[in-house]
Amino acid sequence: MSRKLVVGNWKMNLTLEQSKELIQDVVGRVPFHSYIVIAPPVAYLHPLKEFIVGKKNVHLAAQNVHHEEFGAFTGELSAPMLASLGVEYCIVGHSERRTHFKEKNETLAQKITQLLNHEITPIYCVGETLEQREKGRTFEVIKKQLKEALFHLEPEQIEQVIIAYEPVWAIGTGKNATPEQAEEVHSFIRKYIANKYGEDIASEIPILYGGSINASNASALFSQPNIDGGLVGGASLNAEDFIQIIKANFPN
Ligand code: PGA
Repeated sequence: MSRKLVVGNWKMNLTLEQSKELIQDVVGRVPFHSYIVIAPPVAYLHPLKEFIVGKKNVHLAAQNVHHEEFGAFTGELSAPMLASLGVEYCIVGHSERRTHFKEKNETLAQKITQLLNHEITPIYCVGETLEQREKGRTFEVIKKQLKEALFHLEPEQIEQVIIAYEPVWAIGTGKNATPEQAEEVHSFIRKYIANKYGEDIASEIPILYGGSINASNASALFSQPNIDGGLVGGASLNAEDFIQIIKANFPN
């Protein structure tokens, strides 16, 4: 797994036709030495596969997975189903899912295990709300999110996980964390993982920043020592902006 990467989260946007146009546009311009992951709406994962054939630097992700393997869960999708579609990555615990779908760390822990059992790399999201930050609770919140959803994993399993720090107050608000604010939390996350699993493992785990990344703030964020890349929402819906962001993490 590459420690440096850029992930585009399309959320619940675009028609199938629009998504085909966008992925073609992105794939045609992505620098050869970059590593990107695109998370389209789940129904498009299969039809979009043909556009990334032979592209070793472009991969697909699901935006969610169910925590059980199969069964009577109308409307849901499981890890083995994603694996059968050839999906390599899956976002877990995005703050929109925590908020709107009441996802709890315990369930997220199960989702992560399911994904790893089926050789899909989880992209696990953590982050504090504005209120929690203002009350000085950021580190405590992040610790709990990491501990309760990841610390049941064996060392060889956590090595397969990507972490995304996404302060809730920065998502879709146009108000990104400053590079210093983000770096402070990223280095805290790496140290916390190191305490439990050791420096060697912690130093290999990609930690992405997410929350209002755009073409102008990406370079400053990615130049921080513990920011390995980005989880990009809004700006990933525009090929031009997304390519600029990718180039910021993979300069020539
Ligand atoms: P944003 O979303 O880039 O639109 O702020 C980021 C995310 O939700 O992953």
